[in-house]
Amino acid sequence: MSGLNPKKVSESTVHDHTYKIFPNDLNAYGTVFGGMIMGVLDRIALVVAERHSGQTCVTVSVDSMHFLAPAEHGDILLFRASINRSWRSSMEIGVKVLAENYKTREIKHVLSAYFTFVAVDDQRRPVEVPQVIPETLIEKRRYAEAGLRREKRKVEAEERKKRRGDD
Ligand SMILES: CC(C)(COP(=O)(O)OP(=O)(O)OC[C@H]1O[C@@H](n2cnc3c(N)ncnc32)[C@H](O)[C@@H]1OP(=O)(O)O)[C@@H](O)C(=O)NCCC(=O)NCCS
Repeated sequence: MSGLNPKKVSESTVHDHTYKIFPNDLNAYGTVFGGMIMGVLDRIALVVAERHSGQTCVTVSVDSMHFLAPAEHGDILLFRASINRSWRSSMEIGVKVLAENYKTREIKHVLSAYFTFVAVDDQRRPVEVPQVIPETLIEKRRYAEAGLRREKRKVEAEERKKRRGDD
């Protein structure tokens, strides 16, 4: 258990970071380039991890990144990110991207994903982070589900290790 004071989810959440789409954000298909969205998300999720831990953090994994709908030229992207749970040095940050059509005010769910960051010291060694206090029903559900995802990641990491041993 961490000796640091636990922190509320709301202390580090990024609510609606808005980004207006211009032509230079589009792919050859005329919709928004997914790599641009991934880059912005990584930075925003990093802000959440660094606010929560008060430490320098690095991205260690991203899972369940699914593009559910395309964002279009002229749309406004809304980025949301909040911490789901932390362990000794790692933190799971849940992210969501919405696209708003400013003419119709229609909102589409573009993407959801989970980032894992690790807090590191000056020698890039993992350091302890505060535990998360989930307060609302949604935060409590996310906290519980993050525990299940961590178990799945551990199993996958073991499988990767075995595969590397087979090479
Ligand atoms: C992050 C890093 C310092 C961790 O080092 P490590 O030797 O794996 O350290 P540990 O085995 O003690 O793991 C540290 C934590 O990372 C977690 N972790 C490691 N690999 C993980 C993965 N693939 N997915 C999720 N969590 C992971 C561990 O579960 C552990 O969490 P905990 O402390 O909360 O229990 C090291 O992997 C690293 O430097 N990676 C590169 C990060 C980077 O440069 N990112 C930017 C990409 S350009």
